[in-house]
Amino acid sequence: MNAIVYASQAVTGLEPARLQALVRSSSEFNVRMGVTGMLLHDGQRFLQYIEGPERELRQVYARICASSSHHEMMELARGQIDVRRFPDWALYLAPATPPVLRELVLSDWSALVRSRHVGARAGTAIDRLIGLIGNEAMALPVERISLKSPCHGRVAFCSRLLDSPNV
Ligand SMILES: Cc1cc2nc3c(=O)[nH]c(=O)nc-3n(C[C@H](O)[C@H](O)[C@H](O)COP(=O)(O)O)c2cc1C
Repeated sequence: MNAIVYASQAVTGLEPARLQALVRSSSEFNVRMGVTGMLLHDGQRFLQYIEGPERELRQVYARICASSSHHEMMELARGQIDVRRFPDWALYLAPATPPVLRELVLSDWSALVRSRHVGARAGTAIDRLIGLIGNEAMALPVERISLKSPCHGRVAFCSRLLDSPNV
């Protein structure tokens, strides 16, 4: 099982409707690939964490790299992980404030890979990312829920991976 984290800049004028369509088609592809993860958006920048089997993850990442909806991609970490951190979510789009997203970009993501080894520190960047979701949202039993975003009043969609492949 592998994981990748990157940050990028949304193209100017990325409409909420285009973002919703993007998340919907992305999560559908992720379900097929057995990839799960989270996408943070502050209205301008993205931070995405994806995890899954190496080959399938590479396919998803290739689609992300080829997307015309963002640019200035900056890979923050990549490596092997022991367990999925977002087993239930094909792609969870969550709003973030610019300071929160910036802080996550500047966090030490190397622990994502190091956490495989004994002695890894707790309270890593990935834990902070997970903390942004909270148990309430993770427990929602619906396939697709809409959240009112605090930034720009946008609506974010979360797609739950119902048929989680056993990888
Ligand atoms: C921020 C961002 C995150 C994305 N995440 C995924 C993803 O998790 N899985 C996937 O298959 N594609 C992902 N994509 C690629 C989109 O599916 C792709 O943008 C879509 O097919 C439309 O292409 P376009 O952005 O060039 O119009 C992502 C694209 C962006 C900009």
